[in-house]
Amino acid sequence: MNTSHLFKALGRAVVCTSAALGMLGSGGLAHAQIAVGKTKFLGNIIAGNPPGNFSMYWNQVSPENAGKWDAVEPVRDQMNWGQLDAAYNYARSNGFPFKQHTFVWGSQEPKWIGGLSAQQQAHEVEDFIRQYCQRYPQTQYIDVVNEPLHQPASYREALGGAGSTGWDWIVWSFQKARQHCPTAKLLINEYGIINDANALNRYKVIVDILKSRGLIDGVGIQSHYFSMDNLAPATIKQNLDSLAQTGLPIYVSELDMTGDDATQLARYQQKFPALWTHPGVAGVTLWGYIEGQTWVANSHLVRRDGSERPALTWLGNYVRSNPGSGGAANKSIVVRARGTSGQERVTLRVGGTAVQTWTLGKTMTNYTFTTTLSGGSTVEFTNDATGRDVQVDYLSVNGSVRQAESQTYNTGVYQNGRCGGGSGRSDWLHCNGAIGFGDL
Ligand code: XIL
Repeated sequence: MNTSHLFKALGRAVVCTSAALGMLGSGGLAHAQIAVGKTKFLGNIIAGNPPGNFSMYWNQVSPENAGKWDAVEPVRDQMNWGQLDAAYNYARSNGFPFKQHTFVWGSQEPKWIGGLSAQQQAHEVEDFIRQYCQRYPQTQYIDVVNEPLHQPASYREALGGAGSTGWDWIVWSFQKARQHCPTAKLLINEYGIINDANALNRYKVIVDILKSRGLIDGVGIQSHYFSMDNLAPATIKQNLDSLAQTGLPIYVSELDMTGDDATQLARYQQKFPALWTHPGVAGVTLWGYIEGQTWVANSHLVRRDGSERPALTWLGNYVRSNPGSGGAANKSIVVRARGTSGQERVTLRVGGTAVQTWTLGKTMTNYTFTTTLSGGSTVEFTNDATGRDVQVDYLSVNGSVRQAESQTYNTGVYQNGRCGGGSGRSDWLHCNGAIGFGDL
C-alpha cells in the first residue's frame, strides 16, 4: 500500500465511523437525514457544538443565536465568529444548506448601537453584513430582516426609515445583502403569519416591495408553538395559498409544537402534512429538538437519553414515505478530493453545464455545492501537467455517497499505457479527463 492508498484507507475509516454514528435510529436501522433525497429540506438549529445525532435527522442548518448581531459583535468592531464558524463548517462539510439568521432585527441587537449617530449606525450594519459575506461566501440562505412587523430594528431611521415605500429601511437592508452576498438566497422572516390573515397581508406588502426590486428570493414564516399548537390544517392551507401568490418559495423557518408525548404527536400528525405537502413550501426548519436545549419547554423531539419522542418517530416515517410536492429541489453535492501538487483544478458539471470549479488542496477535503440542476454529473480534471494528479474519494448527493472507484466512466485514469485506457474504475485522474458519477 503506497502512501496515497494508506491515506485513502484512513479517510475511509473516518467516513465509516461517522456513518456508524448514523445507525442508531429507531428500530436499530441505519438511516440518513429524514428528508434525504426529497425535494425540500428538513432542517434544524445548531447552538454551540453540532450535536452528534444532527445528521441522523436533519439536512439543513440554521444557527440558533450565533449569527445574531449581538452574538457576533458584542463589543463594537470586535467580531466573535467562533460558534457561527462551527455551525457553518458543519453544514458545509455535510453538504447541508446553511441559512444565516439574521442581519437586521430589533431583538438581540448589540447594546452599543443605540449610542451611535445615524451615519455610524448605517455604517456598522453594513460592516456586519459585509464581514459576514466575506467570511461565509457559500451561504445558501439569509434571513436578511427578521420580524419587521413585530420587532423592527431600533436603528431603522438610520437605514432610511419608512421613506417613500413605507419600508425603505428594509429595502436598504436587502440592497446591502444583495451587494455583499450576491449568491445567497435572500429571505425575510416573521412570526404570527401562518395563523393570522391580517398580519399575512401586511407582510405581503413588504414582500411585494422587495420583489418588484428583485431583492428577495423567498419568504420565511417562523411557525412557533404559539401560532401552531391550536391551528386548524385548513387555515394553514388557506394562509399558505395566500402567501404562495407572491410567487416566491416559502420557508417554514422556526417550527415547533409543544405538549406531552401524546399531545405533541397529535399536533404533528394533524398539522405537519399541511406544511410539508404544500407546493409553495420549499423547506422546513425546526427550532430545536433536544430536551433541555429548546427555547420553549416540551417542544423537544429527542429526550435527554437520546430516545425519540413519538412525534419524531412519526415525523421520520411520514417524511420518508412522502415526497412532498414542489419545493426548491435543491441537491447538496459534496466532492471529496485532493491534488498531489496543490495546483490541480477540477470542474463539477451537471447536465453538461460547468457549475463549479475548485483548486484542490493536497489533503482530502470536502468541496461542496448546492444545485437545482439535474442530469449527468462529472468531475473533470482540467489543468494536468507534470507532477499534477487528482484523487477523488467520492461524490455525494444529499448525503448519499457514490465512490469514485465504483464508477465505470473515467477518461482521466492512466491504464494500459494510456489515459482512459481501461475499465474506468479508479479514484485517480492522472490526465485531463472526467469521472462520471451518474444522474443527479
Ligand atoms: C430564540 C433562541 O432560541 C433563544 O435561545 C434566545 O434566547 C432568544 O431567541 N424568533 C426568532 C429566533 O427569530 O431568533 C428566536 O430564537 C425565537 C423567536
